[in-house]
Amino acid sequence: MVNVDRFGVSMERKLLEKFDSLIKEKGYRNRSEAIRDIIRDRLVQEEWKSCKEAVGTVTIVYDHHSKSIAKTLNKLQHQHHKYIISTTHIHMDAHNCLEVLILRGNSHKIKKISDILIGRRGVKHGKLVMTTTGTELL
Ligand code: NI
Repeated sequence: MVNVDRFGVSMERKLLEKFDSLIKEKGYRNRSEAIRDIIRDRLVQEEWKSCKEAVGTVTIVYDHHSKSIAKTLNKLQHQHHKYIISTTHIHMDAHNCLEVLILRGNSHKIKKISDILIGRRGVKHGKLVMTTTGTELL
Protein backbone atom coordinates (compact mmCIF):
# COMPACT_ATOMS: atom_id res chain seq x y z
CA MET A 1 0.00 0.00 0.00
CA VAL A 2 1.15 3.52 -0.79
CA ASN A 3 0.65 6.61 1.33
CA VAL A 4 -0.77 4.84 4.33
CA ASP A 5 -1.33 6.79 7.51
CA ARG A 6 -1.91 5.31 10.92
CA PHE A 7 -4.30 6.73 13.46
CA GLY A 8 -5.51 5.74 16.91
CA VAL A 9 -9.16 5.21 17.74
CA SER A 10 -10.59 5.38 21.24
CA MET A 11 -13.88 3.72 22.07
CA GLU A 12 -15.71 1.99 24.89
CA ARG A 13 -14.41 -1.50 25.59
CA LYS A 14 -17.83 -3.09 25.15
CA LEU A 15 -18.25 -1.49 21.75
CA LEU A 16 -14.83 -2.68 20.68
CA GLU A 17 -15.60 -6.24 21.85
CA LYS A 18 -18.75 -6.25 19.75
CA PHE A 19 -16.83 -4.88 16.80
CA ASP A 20 -14.15 -7.55 17.17
CA SER A 21 -16.66 -10.39 17.25
CA LEU A 22 -18.46 -8.92 14.23
CA ILE A 23 -15.30 -8.63 12.13
CA LYS A 24 -14.27 -12.15 13.16
CA GLU A 25 -17.65 -13.41 12.00
CA LYS A 26 -17.29 -11.50 8.72
CA GLY A 27 -13.86 -12.96 8.12
CA TYR A 28 -11.71 -9.85 8.34
CA ARG A 29 -8.08 -10.50 9.17
CA ASN A 30 -7.74 -7.38 11.30
CA ARG A 31 -9.43 -4.20 12.49
CA SER A 32 -7.72 -2.02 9.88
CA GLU A 33 -9.21 -4.04 7.04
CA ALA A 34 -12.69 -3.83 8.54
CA ILE A 35 -12.48 -0.12 9.30
CA ARG A 36 -11.27 0.62 5.75
CA ASP A 37 -14.29 -1.22 4.31
CA ILE A 38 -16.72 0.59 6.61
CA ILE A 39 -15.25 4.00 5.74
CA ARG A 40 -15.29 3.21 2.01
CA ASP A 41 -18.91 2.07 2.22
CA ARG A 42 -19.93 5.26 3.99
CA LEU A 43 -18.06 7.44 1.50
CA VAL A 44 -19.64 5.62 -1.44
CA GLN A 45 -23.06 6.32 0.09
CA GLU A 46 -22.21 10.01 0.28
CA GLU A 47 -20.75 10.05 -3.23
CA TRP A 48 -23.90 8.32 -4.50
CA LYS A 49 -26.15 11.13 -3.29
CA SER A 50 -24.75 13.61 -5.78
CA CYS A 51 -23.86 11.18 -8.53
CA LYS A 52 -25.21 11.75 -12.05
CA GLU A 53 -24.20 8.27 -13.16
CA ALA A 54 -25.08 6.13 -10.18
CA VAL A 55 -26.08 2.48 -10.07
CA GLY A 56 -28.65 0.98 -7.76
CA THR A 57 -30.09 -2.48 -7.33
CA VAL A 58 -33.61 -2.79 -6.06
CA THR A 59 -34.77 -6.09 -4.59
CA ILE A 60 -38.47 -6.64 -4.06
CA VAL A 61 -40.52 -9.57 -2.83
CA TYR A 62 -44.23 -9.78 -3.54
CA ASP A 63 -47.12 -12.22 -3.68
CA HIS A 64 -47.88 -13.03 -7.29
CA HIS A 65 -51.45 -14.09 -6.43
CA SER A 66 -52.18 -10.43 -6.04
CA LYS A 67 -52.81 -9.65 -9.69
CA SER A 68 -52.81 -5.90 -9.17
CA ILE A 69 -49.30 -5.74 -7.71
CA ALA A 70 -47.73 -7.74 -10.56
CA LYS A 71 -49.53 -5.53 -13.06
CA THR A 72 -48.57 -2.32 -11.25
CA LEU A 73 -44.93 -3.31 -10.95
CA ASN A 74 -44.80 -4.14 -14.64
CA LYS A 75 -46.41 -0.83 -15.55
CA LEU A 76 -44.00 1.13 -13.34
CA GLN A 77 -41.03 -0.63 -14.88
CA HIS A 78 -42.19 0.27 -18.37
CA GLN A 79 -42.66 3.89 -17.30
CA HIS A 80 -39.08 4.04 -16.09
CA HIS A 81 -37.50 1.82 -18.74
CA LYS A 82 -34.76 4.39 -19.46
CA TYR A 83 -33.35 3.85 -15.98
CA ILE A 84 -33.96 0.14 -15.54
CA ILE A 85 -31.20 -1.62 -17.44
CA SER A 86 -31.84 -5.16 -16.24
CA THR A 87 -34.34 -7.20 -14.26
CA THR A 88 -34.31 -10.73 -12.94
CA HIS A 89 -37.37 -12.52 -11.68
CA ILE A 90 -37.37 -15.74 -9.73
CA HIS A 91 -40.31 -17.65 -8.30
CA MET A 92 -39.31 -18.15 -4.66
CA ASP A 93 -42.08 -20.59 -3.84
CA ALA A 94 -45.70 -21.22 -4.86
CA HIS A 95 -46.71 -17.72 -3.77
CA ASN A 96 -43.79 -15.36 -3.71
CA CYS A 97 -41.82 -13.68 -6.44
CA LEU A 98 -38.46 -12.03 -6.09
CA GLU A 99 -37.40 -9.35 -8.49
CA VAL A 100 -34.02 -7.66 -8.72
CA LEU A 101 -33.76 -4.55 -10.83
CA ILE A 102 -30.58 -2.79 -11.83
CA LEU A 103 -31.00 0.92 -12.33
CA ARG A 104 -28.55 3.40 -13.77
CA GLY A 105 -28.64 7.18 -13.96
CA ASN A 106 -29.13 10.18 -11.73
CA SER A 107 -29.06 9.10 -8.08
CA HIS A 108 -32.13 11.15 -7.15
CA LYS A 109 -34.16 9.57 -9.93
CA ILE A 110 -33.02 6.06 -8.91
CA LYS A 111 -34.00 6.74 -5.31
CA LYS A 112 -37.39 8.04 -6.41
CA ILE A 113 -38.14 5.02 -8.62
CA SER A 114 -36.97 2.70 -5.86
CA ASP A 115 -39.24 4.40 -3.31
CA ILE A 116 -42.21 4.08 -5.65
CA LEU A 117 -41.58 0.35 -6.22
CA ILE A 118 -40.79 -0.57 -2.60
CA GLY A 119 -43.62 1.54 -1.21
CA ARG A 120 -46.21 -0.14 -3.38
CA ARG A 121 -48.96 -1.94 -1.50
CA GLY A 122 -48.35 -5.67 -1.86
CA VAL A 123 -44.56 -5.44 -1.80
CA LYS A 124 -43.63 -7.47 1.26
CA HIS A 125 -39.99 -6.53 1.39
CA GLY A 126 -37.82 -4.22 -0.58
CA LYS A 127 -34.34 -2.78 -0.45
CA LEU A 128 -32.24 -0.43 -2.49
CA VAL A 129 -28.49 -0.93 -2.60
CA MET A 130 -26.65 2.05 -3.97
CA THR A 131 -23.21 1.90 -5.44
CA THR A 132 -20.64 3.80 -7.45
CA THR A 133 -17.30 2.80 -8.87
CA GLY A 134 -15.75 4.71 -5.97
CA THR A 135 -13.14 6.22 -8.31
CA GLU A 136 -13.26 9.54 -6.46
CA LEU A 137 -12.25 7.83 -3.23
CA LEU A 138 -8.81 6.60 -4.17
NI1 NI B 1 -42.76 -15.27 -9.89
